[in-house]
Amino acid sequence: MKIFLIGFMGCGKSTLGKKLAAKLGYDFIDLDHVLENEVGSNIGEFFAANGEDAFRKLESKLLKEHNYPANCIVATGGGAPCYFDNMDWMNENGITMYVELPPVALARRLEKGKEKRPLIKDMDHEQLIDFIESKLAERDLFYKRAFLSIDGINVTPDKALAELSQVI
Ligand code: S3P
Repeated sequence: MKIFLIGFMGCGKSTLGKKLAAKLGYDFIDLDHVLENEVGSNIGEFFAANGEDAFRKLESKLLKEHNYPANCIVATGGGAPCYFDNMDWMNENGITMYVELPPVALARRLEKGKEKRPLIKDMDHEQLIDFIESKLAERDLFYKRAFLSIDGINVTPDKALAELSQVI
């Protein structure tokens, strides 16, 4: 069983994913790290050298072609569900769960991790809020196609497990 965690940058996919994997005895996979291992550089460097289109193509290829263990929790990059047929593929090949957070909470969290995220690294606070509001409005249409969703505020592995117990 593959469980894909999806949602905006900073919503807590990796933190939740690691804890959930430990509880379930599943492996944890972070697709951003899969890509970084594949190219031998970090995402910021890859964006700077090759651009976003190349990143999206490689992200989609690795999402679909990665050699997943039988049971795993997969944290996906915030844009992954929103390009090509990635969301369809995830829904056909596993369970998708949207970790949902409002823009203000995302902005608060992203202020800290900005530098490793090329799309937002040079933004000031106002620009970040505007970016999150408009990008989330576009992306929500994709995120909302997840089988399950969970409120990212005060989320715990147990709450996520309760949601998942409906399907696994
Ligand atoms: C991106 C999110 C990032 C990473 C890349 C692009 C996005 O992943 O894939 O910087 O387009 O939202 P996280 O959601 O893990 O930060």
